[in-house]
Amino acid sequence: PDHSMDERIAAARKKLGASTIILGHHYQRDEVIRFADYTGDSYKLSKIASETSADYLVFCGVHFMAESADVLGRDAAEGRAGQQVILPDLNAGCSMADMAEISQVEDCWDSLRRAGLGAESGEGSILPLTYMNSTAAIKAFCGERGGLVCTSSNARGAFEWAFARAEKILFLPDQHLGRNTAFAMGIPMSEMVVYDPYQINGGITPDRLKAAKVILWKGHCSVHQRFLPQHVDQVRAKYPGIQVIVHPECRWEVCQKADTLGSTERLIQLVSQAPEGSMFAIGTEIHLVNRLAKEFAPKGKKIITLDDTGCLCTTMYRISPQHLAWTLENLLEGRVVNHIKVREDVKHWARVALARMLEVKA
Ligand code: 13P
Ligand code: SF4
Repeated sequence: PDHSMDERIAAARKKLGASTIILGHHYQRDEVIRFADYTGDSYKLSKIASETSADYLVFCGVHFMAESADVLGRDAAEGRAGQQVILPDLNAGCSMADMAEISQVEDCWDSLRRAGLGAESGEGSILPLTYMNSTAAIKAFCGERGGLVCTSSNARGAFEWAFARAEKILFLPDQHLGRNTAFAMGIPMSEMVVYDPYQINGGITPDRLKAAKVILWKGHCSVHQRFLPQHVDQVRAKYPGIQVIVHPECRWEVCQKADTLGSTERLIQLVSQAPEGSMFAIGTEIHLVNRLAKEFAPKGKKIITLDDTGCLCTTMYRISPQHLAWTLENLLEGRVVNHIKVREDVKHWARVALARMLEVKA
């Protein structure tokens, strides 16, 4: 790591004062996250974005998180400028979010309607529910059709919210989070189908569709999908008594073998609250796992990654100290670089969907 940036970042940060806050997702590298005013999972960071009075939000995370912060942030009003969100590197995307394009989602919705779904309520009614890891346009799509957004920390509550209003759910774009959540609620696999946007009508027969309660979009996180059930068996054999805790973006087979599932914030909580001498194998991004290992080693807790090759989110990693220094120094000069701005027409319904999300407790 290049620590020569530290002084530049710290100096710019200090001069900017309370007008600016730096938000850092738990997957950020140490050299970046150490400058965050607030750290969190995607739920916590979007809640902070919706509540802060700062004028500039420098989001050290990925694109969909910065978009959501812009949607939830303060608009311009009564002589006061609106909040502006900055993503230090515009290339920090999310491969899972890229697996669902708004036009594909519209096509999917049309094909579900052609198959007879879409009643206002009761039999044949359906609501779209999207994971936070999706574009603002998809969030708006869900909001406009009575649906909502969820994160990994409130997915179950969001499913319950939707099932209180409709018979079926279309869950976008992470099939694993959708399957893990639905299964934990007692929905059998026979009532889940996977919609493949690269097949006619998603590759789902009308009979399968009729029997389904949950239609899962065929998307996944390429980082979390690398954890396999045999990794759980291997760490348990090597470290008897170890607790396996994983992010719910992992495959169902891995989640079934794990002791606990949780969002990044929850995984941190589990480790912090465990007694001295505890051992954990964690199935999530490597920067978070390494940071926890370092922090808790002096407290007698052993923390290892579930897969010993370690899973790196290359897009989270794109945010470097150099990018952070550059964005802060530009702000000092009055320039907002890498401004993330969601189109006004998209913003309205995306805000509706995100507001519903914030009503469902994490
Ligand atoms: P969290 O909301 O748990 O932080 O997850 C975000 C994410 O992208 C995990 O891959
Ligand atoms: Fe996206 Fe996966 Fe990276 Fe999370 S870990 S930001 S889901 S690619």
